[in-house]
Amino acid sequence: MSTAAFARSLLHAAGLGLAAAAVLGGAACGGKVAVDNGGGPVSSSSSSSGSMTCDQMATVYEAMEVCVGPGPTDGCLAKDDPALVPMLVEQMNMMACGSDLASVLCGPTSPTFGQCCYVVDGTLYLCGGRPFVVDGAARTAAGEARADWLLRVADAGDVDEDTRCALAEAWTRSALDEHASVASFARFVLELLGVGAPADLVSRAQRALGDEIRHAELCFGLASAFAGRAVGPGPLAVAGAAPARVDLAEIAAAAVREGCVGETLAAFEAAVARDAAEHPAVRVALDVIARDEADHAALAYRFVAWALRAGDARVHAAVHEAFTAALAAPPSPPPEVEGDAGALRAHGQLPLAERRALAARCLAEVVAPSFAALALDARQAGEAESPSRKNELYLGSL
Ligand SMILES: [Fe+2]
Ligand SMILES: [Fe+2]
Repeated sequence: MSTAAFARSLLHAAGLGLAAAAVLGGAACGGKVAVDNGGGPVSSSSSSSGSMTCDQMATVYEAMEVCVGPGPTDGCLAKDDPALVPMLVEQMNMMACGSDLASVLCGPTSPTFGQCCYVVDGTLYLCGGRPFVVDGAARTAAGEARADWLLRVADAGDVDEDTRCALAEAWTRSALDEHASVASFARFVLELLGVGAPADLVSRAQRALGDEIRHAELCFGLASAFAGRAVGPGPLAVAGAAPARVDLAEIAAAAVREGCVGETLAAFEAAVARDAAEHPAVRVALDVIARDEADHAALAYRFVAWALRAGDARVHAAVHEAFTAALAAPPSPPPEVEGDAGALRAHGQLPLAERRALAARCLAEVVAPSFAALALDARQAGEAESPSRKNELYLGSL
């Protein structure tokens, strides 16, 4: 799949067609767009690894950079401070559906916007769409035997038992992620109302909520067909869940992580998996999910564009930080599904290495230029409103 075509279609659907033409127009297919990290000239840091300074390591694409607020004494914690690890883990869990932190390689890098950033050896696990994040961690229900959350699939296809069980497990995991996305959109609708968003955004968000119910039913249908018994969601733990946020900067940053990044990656991977799939019901499910997730990603960009126009410099800084954090730390898919690779591909499950490569390519070739288009749109909107406004807004300086 052409990432340039995917990015163009995404930004057009987000109402950012003019900015997209400026950002993507002259680029060859799949061309990368550099995004200024806003940090000014790279300078040396006292912490280093090998022959590179930590600042230089942070600019290497494969390096994962995670940023947190200052420690209890208002300065950046040393990389081996025991208090640092839980802060990094909490931040990594906010950026993905779970994470593993092996070690902190170096840091802090040169401070950027009051954040303390570290290069880490770790893994972020890709969400299957928009996560329901509570207290910094993605929350899903457990699966249980029930038949009222599925669209029935007539035929599981001709696969051996081990592969069939692996497919049941993988599609159940996808279904539970989709089910959690319903809760995420329910909260997002409240948040949009709370920040005075236009009716168009509220209407698109409530339609997306309905889409996620259908995605869950499609995936539970496939999971049930492969399991040979009905599978559905248990109760979702919403007690104690964070209430709707009211701070526009916080909501915009979450929309970047969960929608502009999470749902863009989900849409791209679903489209690639659909093209590789052979099982008819799997192709139908992935086709619906790919199209809807692309719409949801476009909604996130549309909302963030509105937030940048409506918000102050804090909103701009929060959006910038959320994008740069996501671009610095590509998430990985969940663990490999065991079984016959050809049969798994035919039933919508791509190998782990391919999914990891797709996520990295989508981040570099779709999310990064889309961020640049958002920044351009914000700058043009700021200049149109007031020639001096661009100097007040952080993204306006990009
Ligand atoms: Fe979905
Ligand atoms: Fe979605």
